[in-house]
Amino acid sequence: MIPHQVPSQLSAPSIEGASERNNKNMSIETFKELYVEELRDLYSAETQLVEALPKVAEAATSQELIEAIEAHLDQTRNQVARLQSLFRDLDENPEGETCQAMKGLIKETKDAIDEIEEGPLLDAALIIMAQKVEHYEIAGYGSVKTLASSSGHDQHVQLLEETLNEEKGADQKLTSIAEAVVNQEAISQA
Ligand SMILES: [Fe+2]
Repeated sequence: MIPHQVPSQLSAPSIEGASERNNKNMSIETFKELYVEELRDLYSAETQLVEALPKVAEAATSQELIEAIEAHLDQTRNQVARLQSLFRDLDENPEGETCQAMKGLIKETKDAIDEIEEGPLLDAALIIMAQKVEHYEIAGYGSVKTLASSSGHDQHVQLLEETLNEEKGADQKLTSIAEAVVNQEAISQA
């Protein structure tokens, strides 16, 4: 852990806004700390997904969708390993952060599983939820890739780009399953 440093200007009460800032629990004060924090958010998101995806595959009916979810579970495990290698390189711990956004998205997925009977309509809903997850991850990886690039972590950029491309590929695959199979079946199910 990097020791918590209090910038000198915060102890000067004459600076406008200082009292407001003093009320904050400031643990991110450098670009590197911001980068590590964002990586931890993604690490938490991915580890939550490794746990959740088997349940999503179990709730799905379409064979194509089940296979896509299972393939993405393998990719996700690999993405966790990739993030671990970045943390090793930074000499930082990946633990300590809970991605609340992913927690919320997984909760909404569970709600859909509870509210919709298994079949094409639930599959259509699962695809929507999975795409929301992918878009969150695409935003996250796109941003950390930029942070890595700005701070000269060129090897990180390469690894983050590999994951980013996998997330984009998974998103496109889900769109094609919705268009080719699931949505029409869900329409005629009623
Ligand atoms: Fe991922």
